[in-house]
Amino acid sequence: QAEDGHALWLRYKPCNKANIIAPQGGPTLQLAVDELQRYWQGPALKLILNPNLKDDDGFIYDGDSICAHSEIGLLYGAYEALRIQAQEADPGLGGYTAPKFPRRILDHWDNLDGTIERGYAGRSIFFSAHLKGQAWANRIKEYARVNASIGLNGSVLNNVNAAPKVLTAEYIDTVCMIANVLRPYGIKVYLSVNFGSPKALGYTKTADPLDKSVIKWWREKANEIYKRIPDFGGFLVKANSEGQPGPFDYGRTHADGANMLADALAPHGGIVMWRSFVYGAKHKGEDRVKQAVSEFKDLDGLFRSNVILQSKNGPLDFQPREPYAPIFDNMSKTPQAVEFQITQEYTGQSKHLVYLAPMWKEFFYFVSPDSLKAIAGVSNVGDDTNWCGHPFSQANWYAFGRLAWNPSLSSDFIAQEWISQTFGNEVDSYALADMMTTSREACVNYMMPLGLHHLFAFDHHYGPEPNGFKAEYPLEWCPVYYHKASKDGIGFDRSSTGTNAVSQYREPYRSLYNDLKTCPDEYLLWFHHVPWDYKLRNGDTLWDELCALYYRGIEQVISYQKLWNKVRPQIDRERWEHVNTLLGVQLESAEQWRDTILRYFQQFSKLPIKYAYTDIA
Ligand code: GCU
Repeated sequence: QAEDGHALWLRYKPCNKANIIAPQGGPTLQLAVDELQRYWQGPALKLILNPNLKDDDGFIYDGDSICAHSEIGLLYGAYEALRIQAQEADPGLGGYTAPKFPRRILDHWDNLDGTIERGYAGRSIFFSAHLKGQAWANRIKEYARVNASIGLNGSVLNNVNAAPKVLTAEYIDTVCMIANVLRPYGIKVYLSVNFGSPKALGYTKTADPLDKSVIKWWREKANEIYKRIPDFGGFLVKANSEGQPGPFDYGRTHADGANMLADALAPHGGIVMWRSFVYGAKHKGEDRVKQAVSEFKDLDGLFRSNVILQSKNGPLDFQPREPYAPIFDNMSKTPQAVEFQITQEYTGQSKHLVYLAPMWKEFFYFVSPDSLKAIAGVSNVGDDTNWCGHPFSQANWYAFGRLAWNPSLSSDFIAQEWISQTFGNEVDSYALADMMTTSREACVNYMMPLGLHHLFAFDHHYGPEPNGFKAEYPLEWCPVYYHKASKDGIGFDRSSTGTNAVSQYREPYRSLYNDLKTCPDEYLLWFHHVPWDYKLRNGDTLWDELCALYYRGIEQVISYQKLWNKVRPQIDRERWEHVNTLLGVQLESAEQWRDTILRYFQQFSKLPIKYAYTDIA
């Protein structure tokens, strides 16, 4: 099976002879019928709308029929049938399945000039100067189909660092055209908005959320948008963070800001997704990982019902491993959403094979999906032929959708599904899934084991820069601030003797993380400053274990290369070579991490690297 343009995991072979029995319906039902007529190979299949089923996008598929309350349920059921067919799997007993989260959203960090913040797969498919007219619409249609195939139902089209211009008539026009393409696939559009928009666009003198002219401007803007896009989803807002304007600029709270926008959207059924990724404003100077809770805790209960507080999985910033963000323990009255990062900003970008499902599953171990109203993933989609840069980065898009539907699916199950649809059923899916499911831990090992964090080079966040410090930057952008290595040891004391970030966690985690003896090794240097010769539970000293893990990460990448060589006859040449080249790049990068980090820390530890399998060059 050769690389097939934009096909991703949708590599069905057309047969165009299926007998599909379906009622009359709208465009969404028609899509379900069309997909099945083209690709269904089994005996007659019935599509049935049943108003007695729940209206939650769910369906029943039993091999002979697909039943759902709504047309979108039938479309999701059609993709389930085709997914099962592609894997030559058994349809099972035909139980009811429905998505866990009502809102399953991709956040695109696309700029209006077509560049993508933290994008590693080309340029924006939405704001595109070179894709025009029908080609543009076709690409967006393919994108919609891909998302529908995994049950995603929302797209935030533009960067959270939002240009005010996106709210001008010209862009509302573009957004309206995109919405028209996405609609039949059950996908709503949302926009990131700049809190200072009315002022920045010259309509008001202030952006104070309690100012009458500001309130009026947003209300009218919402009316204007809904006139064109009646099913518009709402706004995503990054306010008072990393230089973005926000209510704090006017002495107001996040609740004041969010509620003002929420009131403008409420008459139309829209929502506000207000991000808790804030630091460097009101609580400037405080341990960065504490600032979200410090800022939002007292506002719990003050938000409108159509506001959702959206938080990254960890309290810092999408590191290869972080403890869960304690904001999820502190806002019992506020609807919350988790934001994962599908684009691999801190996990090797589109150069490293790192399958992220295990990281997201880890989060759900600590934060129950039942407590969340929505799930968002920062998209890795660009206009590259293969959409995501690295062929295996596609699996992260896929896994995000599957977990948004059912977070209890295992990483391994999702990997196997993806592999057989992407590479066919002849490949050794067990071996490849094994590679995928261990790859995130490998990345942690060769980048930041034992709870180390943010040792990334400034700006691009790809390679290491452990000595990173710039007086002109805020301290919390500097790697030296996070590892605190000195001759007495390494790590950030966030226990009760340090910044006391542990106090933001619910029990038993608060006590567990606070005590050096019970703190899990994987979070050790996140919560504690530890002497170099500290004995870990496995009997090794901290220094020896650190060295061993960096070397283990590299051994893992080497084992992926060996495996990839073994499956060579089962994979088409184009994709095999592409991945093979990238594995070489990954190994080189992993070695650079090991060498840079260990050499740097060795200046403080003054200890030999005795676990080395091979010497540092
Ligand atoms: C990270 C990332 C930024 C992004 C920010 C955010 O800091 O590097 O590019 O804007 O997260 O999530 O707002």
